Amino acid sequence: MNHLDRAREMVGAAANVVVFTGAGMSAESGVPTFRDALTGLWAHFDPAELATPEAWERDRSTVWSWYAERAAGVREVAPNDGHRAISRLADDKRADGGSVSIITQNVDDLHERAGGGDVCHLHGSLFAPRCDRCGRPASVETALDPALTACTACPGRIRPGVVWFGELLPADAWARAEEAFAAADLVLVVGTSGVVHPAAGLPESAARGGVPVLEVNPEPSELTGVRLRLPATAAEGLPRLVG
Ligand code: APR
Repeated sequence: MNHLDRAREMVGAAANVVVFTGAGMSAESGVPTFRDALTGLWAHFDPAELATPEAWERDRSTVWSWYAERAAGVREVAPNDGHRAISRLADDKRADGGSVSIITQNVDDLHERAGGGDVCHLHGSLFAPRCDRCGRPASVETALDPALTACTACPGRIRPGVVWFGELLPADAWARAEEAFAAADLVLVVGTSGVVHPAAGLPESAARGGVPVLEVNPEPSELTGVRLRLPATAAEGLPRLVG
């Protein structure tokens, strides 16, 4: 049996699937990944200057405009065939009394726009800005406004709703992810290098617990415990996997 047939069999037999995604999931929609040597965001921007609490304290305006530009960029693109295949998988599993939990490291909203049910954002969202002092949520429109905005309820400033390096992941998102992984009988990992923890530890501990982990990625990742890798992109591989 070839890799694709074996992978399709694993997906077909599973009842509760966790789909764990990274930047490669959105690459074919035109959203840059982080670590691609040529096109990755970190090949062109310094995360220490843009994606840390220290950077925010140092230069709020530059940080804010960079994230507002990324949010506007996401608004100009669309979900790809991979997002849509995951949405079909979710519908199919739900129809059979099972479930699909989308646990993403991505901060775009392409999973939501493709459908497929609740999406858990471990690293926050470009479209969930909030006050950097009282935490009050700001409007989605604020995320697209390049001008720095003051909080309406306190002297704070509206910050991007993403998790920066050195920050804790949102407790509610982490709890939801742990619960989904604990109930999974298959973990489908799509488009992540697996180098950023604690998120990358979730599929790794599932594998240690005996849950089969299937990876869709044109390149091998740093994730340990992957049972089977489909050497394909998200938009090519997922439709073949899900049908
Ligand atoms: N389809 C599937 N996978 C792809 C595609 C594609 N079209 N294109 C690239 N990839 C793979 C790459 O081979 C790589 O393994 O996607 C992965 C992208 O890795 P990263 O750029 O490191 O992105 P990610 O793993 O999501 O990064 C994790 O790092 O900077 C932080 O918070 C940021 O959430 C991000 C985290």
